[in-house]
Parts: sequence; structure tokens; C-alpha cells
Amino acid sequence: MATIASLHKALVCILLLLFLPFLSLSEDYLPINPRLEKAYVALQAWKHAITADPKNLTLDWCGPHDLGLLSDLALLHLNSNRFHGGLPDAFERLQLLYELDVSNNRLQGPFPAVVLHLPSLKYLDIRFNRFRGEVPLRVFDLRLDALFLNDNQFAFSLPDSIGNSSLSVLVVADNRISGCFPRSITDMADTLNELILLNASITSCIPEDIGKLKNLTVFDVSFNNLVGPLPDSIGEMRKLEQLNVAHNNLSGDVPESICELPRLKNFTSSYNYFCGEPERCLKLRTRDDRENCIPERPHQRSEEQCIAFSSKPVHCDANGCMAPPPPPAHY
Ligand SMILES: *[C@@H]1O[C@H](CO)[C@@H](O)[C@H](O)[C@H]1NC(C)=O
Ligand SMILES: *[C@@H]1O[C@H](CO)[C@@H](O)[C@H](O)[C@H]1NC(C)=O
Ligand SMILES: *[C@@H]1O[C@H](CO)[C@@H](O)[C@H](O)[C@H]1NC(C)=O
Ligand SMILES: *[C@@H]1O[C@H](CO)[C@@H](O)[C@H](O)[C@H]1NC(C)=O
Ligand SMILES: *[C@@H]1O[C@H](CO)[C@@H](O)[C@H](O)[C@H]1NC(C)=O
Ligand SMILES: *[C@@H]1O[C@H](CO)[C@@H](O)[C@H](O)[C@H]1NC(C)=O
Repeated sequence: MATIASLHKALVCILLLLFLPFLSLSEDYLPINPRLEKAYVALQAWKHAITADPKNLTLDWCGPHDLGLLSDLALLHLNSNRFHGGLPDAFERLQLLYELDVSNNRLQGPFPAVVLHLPSLKYLDIRFNRFRGEVPLRVFDLRLDALFLNDNQFAFSLPDSIGNSSLSVLVVADNRISGCFPRSITDMADTLNELILLNASITSCIPEDIGKLKNLTVFDVSFNNLVGPLPDSIGEMRKLEQLNVAHNNLSGDVPESICELPRLKNFTSSYNYFCGEPERCLKLRTRDDRENCIPERPHQRSEEQCIAFSSKPVHCDANGCMAPPPPPAHY
């Protein structure tokens, strides 16, 4: 039933989209648009086929449906259908596709490269599937507005070219991203609103100039291996509402400027090694500073843990992150 509901939703979207220009006309007048008719027929065929064989037909995406007929499709929402397999190559024909949501299925295999050939794509949601391996760097060259990769089994490093992307929402949580915090991320200042890099095995320090992302409302880098201080520049993200840096190895004092952010609603700093926190932070509506090394605060780490941690120096350039470029080779 979920399948039919989704298809129905997709159908309604197309109908709305294609009929929109005609809505000002008389209500009796139903325009006969041949391309719409084709899309409708194709979707009907697909829908019918799926009704006749609800489980198996969709399993490997190879049914009698002709995606080519759907060339006018602008929105395709096929989430939560328990689809297996990958995305069919026929998707390449969806040249007008603007939004693709195949989240929450059981899709597997490598990153669906077919999406790289969709010139109109703005919104790509493939989260909660079983895709694995590398994410092609070219994804960040697409003119996407939102990208949801979370809860797959991707293993890759965020490339430096990420700064060239036009994303306003980037969610890569629960993958094995690993590697460094890409410095060029600050080049996304004009577009980025939500950055969710949680549980992505990222090492290194948070770039000092991260505050250049002045349009961020959500910044979540929890459950990584981040070290070093929380940059003072975060206090320049005047629109920030949600800040979560929990479960890392961050240390030093929490900068006061952060707790003075006018829109900050929720600041989670638990499970780090912070050793100081301004009074001001205690006034935030929702906060969680447990399991740090902050004197006088309840539920902190043991003194032994804090001393052991602070005896080890922090190296931002560990793991090859933010190290100066190697000197030119001489022979
Ligand atoms: C269809 O799927 C069911 C279980 O989901 C399976 O038992 C059956 O053999 C499948 N039929 C075909 C024709 O693949
Ligand atoms: C970013 O885009 C510029 C041009 O827009 C290009 O010169 C540069 O190579 C790109 N950088 C990366 C890392 O792709
Ligand atoms: C982190 O992601 C892994 C999969 O990459 C998952 O198994 C694990 O439960 C996640 N951990 C948290 C704290 O969400
Ligand atoms: C933030 O968003 C506004 C529009 O909401 C835009 O004009 C501005 O360039 C963006 N970037 C920065 C860095 O403020
Ligand atoms: C974080 O700190 C713990 C405890 O000192 C240590 O075992 C772990 O290796 C540290 N991780 C990183 C990435 O520094
Ligand atoms: C605050 O943020 C934390 C971490 O993201 C979340 O678990 C918690 O539910 C949030 N609390 C509220 C009241 O939004």
C-alpha cells in the first residue's frame, strides 16, 4: 500500500505541476497535454503493474513500466517502499527531474551514478538505504540545493571541492566519512543553512574560521573524533539555533560568544573534555554539558580521566589534517 500511496503522491505532484499554468482558466476546461497524457499513461501502467504484483515487481526495478515515458517528471518520491537493487539507468531520461527521494528503501550497491546525469536535479534524498563505497566527487559539482546521504554505508572523505557546491542542506550522518574536516566548507557560506556531519568518523580540529558560515541554523558534528577547541568564530553564526558537538574529544573553554548567540535554542556539548563554561551558557533554554571536565558542574568526568586527557597534547595536524603543504621535491 505504501508503494501505491507514494506513486499516487508522485502522480499528484506531476498533475499539479503540469496543470498549474492552466489553473486560472475555467474550471471545466481540462487541457489535453500530450506529454502529460504520456506521463499519466506510464504512471498508470506502473501503478497497475505494481497493484498486480505488489512485492516482487518492484524488488529489482525491472517491470514493464517505461520510465522513458516519464520524461516530464519533475518530482519523484518513492521513499519507504522496501525497494531493493539500485536505480535503473532509465532514470537518465528524467532530464527535468528536480526532486528525487528514494529514501528509506533497501537500495544497495554503489552510489547511484545515474543521478550525476540529471541536469535539473536540486534535491537528492537517498538516505536510509544500503548504498556503500565512495561517493563520487562530482556530486558536489551538481547544482544541488539539498543532499541527504545519511544512514548508508558510504566510506569516503569529504573532498575539498565541497566548497564549490551550492548546497543549503548537507546531511551525511551515520556513514564512514573519515578524514579531515574540509577547510573549504567555509566557501559554502552563501548557501549553507544546515550542516549535519554527525557520526561520520571525522578527525581533526574544527576549522578556526568555521564562523564564516553565517547562514547556518543547524550545526551538528556530534559523534566524531574532533579534537582541539571550539572555535570562537562560531559566535559569529548569528542565525544558529541548534548546536551539537557532543561525543568528541574537544577541550578548552566554551567561548562566551557562542552562548550569547541570539537564536541559540539548544547547545549540546556533552561527552567532551571542556574544562570551562561561562555563566552565560547556563541561561540557555536547552543545553547539555554532562561528562566534561567543568569544575562545579554536575555529572562531569572523573578527575583521573580529565588529568589523563589533558596530559596528552592536541595535534590539529594529526592524521594529515590541515598540515602545511609538503615542500617541493628536489632531486
Ligand atoms: C515473490 O516474493 C515472495 C516473498 O517476498 C517469494 O516467496 C516468491 O517466491 C517471489 N516470487 C517470485 C516470482 O519471485
Ligand atoms: C571550484 O570551482 C572553480 C571554478 O568555479 C574551479 O576553478 C576549481 O577548480 C573548483 N575547485 C575544485 C576543488 O573543484
Ligand atoms: C554511527 O553509524 C554507524 C553506521 O555507520 C551505526 O552503526 C552506529 O549505530 C551510529 N552511531 C550512533 C551513535 O548513532
Ligand atoms: C546569507 O543569506 C543571505 C540571504 O538570506 C544572503 O544574502 C547572504 O549572502 C548569505 N551569506 C552570508 C555569508 O551571509
Ligand atoms: C579521545 O580521547 C580518548 C580518551 O583519552 C582516547 O582514547 C581517544 O583515542 C581519543 N580520540 C581521538 C580521536 O583523539
Ligand atoms: C537538543 O539537541 C539534542 C542533540 O541534537 C537533542 O538530542 C535534543 O532532543 C534537543 N532538545 C530539544 C529540546 O530540542
